Amino acid sequence: METELIVNKVVVIGAAHGIGRAVADAFLDAGSSVLAADADDRALEKSPAGMTSRVVDVTRLEQVEKLASECGDVSHVVFTVGVGSGHCGFPFWNVPPAQWQRVLEVNLIGAVNVAHAFAPGLADRGRGSMCFFTSVAGQIGSQTDPPYSASKAALINFAQCAAKDLAPFGVRVNAIAPGMVKTDLNQSVWKSSFRGSSAKEQPTYEEWAADKIEKVAPLGRWQELDEIAAVTLFLASDAARNITGQTINIDGGQVMHS
Ligand SMILES: NC(=O)c1ccc[n+]([C@@H]2O[C@H](COP(=O)([O-])OP(=O)(O)OC[C@H]3O[C@@H](n4cnc5c(N)ncnc54)[C@H](O)[C@@H]3O)[C@@H](O)[C@H]2O)c1
Repeated sequence: METELIVNKVVVIGAAHGIGRAVADAFLDAGSSVLAADADDRALEKSPAGMTSRVVDVTRLEQVEKLASECGDVSHVVFTVGVGSGHCGFPFWNVPPAQWQRVLEVNLIGAVNVAHAFAPGLADRGRGSMCFFTSVAGQIGSQTDPPYSASKAALINFAQCAAKDLAPFGVRVNAIAPGMVKTDLNQSVWKSSFRGSSAKEQPTYEEWAADKIEKVAPLGRWQELDEIAAVTLFLASDAARNITGQTINIDGGQVMHS
């Protein structure tokens, strides 16, 4: 089966850290021309040779539109941006309603801005794909961070709308839902879970994660950055030409288990 990338110009938005960084590196290694975009200008400066970078705040439509116009004939758009509320959301009334705004603005409206800015070019060219990073939290009503969970559920739904609208133009839209990947965002969940606890009461990050993974993931292991990147590249490849509107869980079986 043909597994080559359909065409090789890719923009990864959220590429300064974590999963986005790994995805951008993997596309570069696969021979793609990669534009790495993120709000964190200092971290973007560490992008490897051969990768172009642009600072963008996805909540600002005019910035995202400028990025899309500078990208030219991009073939694949990957959105890995994501933030949590920074609060332990169990029970949900621990997170004041005012804290929902920013999470929805970045995780959902940011993705909508990106879709709006890039869809016309992809549709005109009649090929390519978009891939939005959501989360297992978007499928299971996670009690860890309700605004995060709700934003990711909405993003799964929006990706399906976008997939239906863009299918007649030959453009595919999918979502990826990781479970537990060792990144700054994942570590922030651990920190917020024990906010206000004494150091004695707080397990280390590794202890907390090992306990959580054992409870929630039948395969009993972290999801690795290279595993996430490999599926992202697959979804952009011609081998995935019949896959659209799907959410691929890379979660060690967590959603199945819930
Ligand atoms: N790490 C996990 O365990 C995990 C689990 C499930 C889902 N996810 C999802 O995977 C994606 C990547 O997560 P990660 O763990 O690599 O997180 P991360 O915090 O390491 O990276 C997120 C990136 O988004 C950027 N960003 C934040 N706000 C932005 C904005 N307004 N405009 C532009 N860029 C902005 C950050 O600068 C950062 O580079 C996210 O959508 C996240 O929700 C991660």
